[in-house]
Amino acid sequence: MKITVIGLGYLGATHAVAMAELGHDVIGIEANPQKLADLQNGIVPFYEPGLDEALKNVIAKGNIKFKADHDEESRQADLHFLCVGTPQLPGSYAANTEYLHSAVKALAPYLRQDAVVAGKSTVPVGTSAILTQVLADAAGFAPHLAWNPEFLREGTALEDSLRPDRIVIGVNDEVSEQALRKVYKKILDHGTPFLVTDIPTAELVKVAANSFLATKISFINAMAEIAEVSGADAVALAEAIGYDERIGNKFLRNGIGFGGGCLPKDIRAFMARAQELGVGKAVDFLADVDDVNLRRRARVVDLLNRELGADLSGKRVLVLGAAFKPDSDDLRDSPAIAVAKLIKVTGATVVVHDPISLDHVRAQNPDFVAEQDLALAATGADAVVLATEWAQYREGHIPADLGKVVANKLVIDGRNALKVEKWQQAGWRLIALGRNVEATA
Ligand code: UGA
Repeated sequence: MKITVIGLGYLGATHAVAMAELGHDVIGIEANPQKLADLQNGIVPFYEPGLDEALKNVIAKGNIKFKADHDEESRQADLHFLCVGTPQLPGSYAANTEYLHSAVKALAPYLRQDAVVAGKSTVPVGTSAILTQVLADAAGFAPHLAWNPEFLREGTALEDSLRPDRIVIGVNDEVSEQALRKVYKKILDHGTPFLVTDIPTAELVKVAANSFLATKISFINAMAEIAEVSGADAVALAEAIGYDERIGNKFLRNGIGFGGGCLPKDIRAFMARAQELGVGKAVDFLADVDDVNLRRRARVVDLLNRELGADLSGKRVLVLGAAFKPDSDDLRDSPAIAVAKLIKVTGATVVVHDPISLDHVRAQNPDFVAEQDLALAATGADAVVLATEWAQYREGHIPADLGKVVANKLVIDGRNALKVEKWQQAGWRLIALGRNVEATA
């Protein structure tokens, strides 16, 4: 099929490459000149394992091209995917849907009456109905508009796009359903569950899924708070409840909590939308989910104060990891950066190490010492905080190597990812969130 993908951030760039890999003829539309130039040159403008190679591959095959705007070629497309961002509005919890409005207005002059527009961005329920009207006014006919939420995770984005655990489409008409069945045919042929719903349900599925995931993480973090004052172990607790198939063992890792461009903003936008709809109470609990999440970041500072004293000025703290999760260079709402900022406020010197995102750290947080060499970063540190569980921090001889250069062998495991015995055997005092590891050593 001939398709356009409008907005080439994490979601759009990955989706465009995935569609080209499936054999479609793809035009990617991106307004940001730097991102556009990168993509045209076969460079993915963010870190995503495997995506660079896949992009070069589809460019070489000739089934993808990138443009700043629509032109007559867009009119040939049978299907247009909307992938622009819906960030949190400054000073509000609500999502900003302005980029979607601009995207449909820019598309309208090039939209064929029989073509389908499928929204993939995460939106407040009801957005599609508004966009249908905006598009109808601009195009002069009733458009085929569908909603097709995306569930990809950063770090495994391409794999998630090509082998999703389900595809959900919200449609109002047969034309939209058939176009989406056709575009995903190769994936559906593998038996992937395909759910066809009304549009509000499809819009809600995405925010409901992300709210559930955020709630799961905050639930185990709330248990960690209880464990810390009762001598219990939240990691053992998670394992024990996770064997119950109804609960499951995924997304129950306690630590400094969730971040990124999706979970935090999605639960806030959901609260704002529910309020507008007069049912704010239905998702009031998400405010607690958000609170627990933010409290766990502050817990790291409490522990540093407990261990190093109330005054941290003059102390040097190494924060391991800056991205919101491993295998990503995304610093949006990163718990690691939030923790580093909280430590900085106490007057300590904060050194940040991350395998790939230090350029972003330097640009956005000049207050931190960003050090690429791990041994140099650790030299003279009074404490080390594991904030993003990159594999390289968990493997090899890190406890022994860092032990040689730090001023004080104190490590706070903010992700429950370190091998406790290994660090203890190397002479470290290890504190893990939600656990009393000394009691169990
Ligand atoms: C999330 C969802 O998992 C995707 O399904 C969704 O498509 C995406 O948002 C989106 O809305 O686009 P992502 O933001 O890539 O994906 O990250 P996650 O893997 O969900 O991790 C989110 C955060 O939760 C990270 O900061 C991670 O460290 C934290 N986390 C995760 C925990 O603290 N504990 C856990 O057990 C799991």
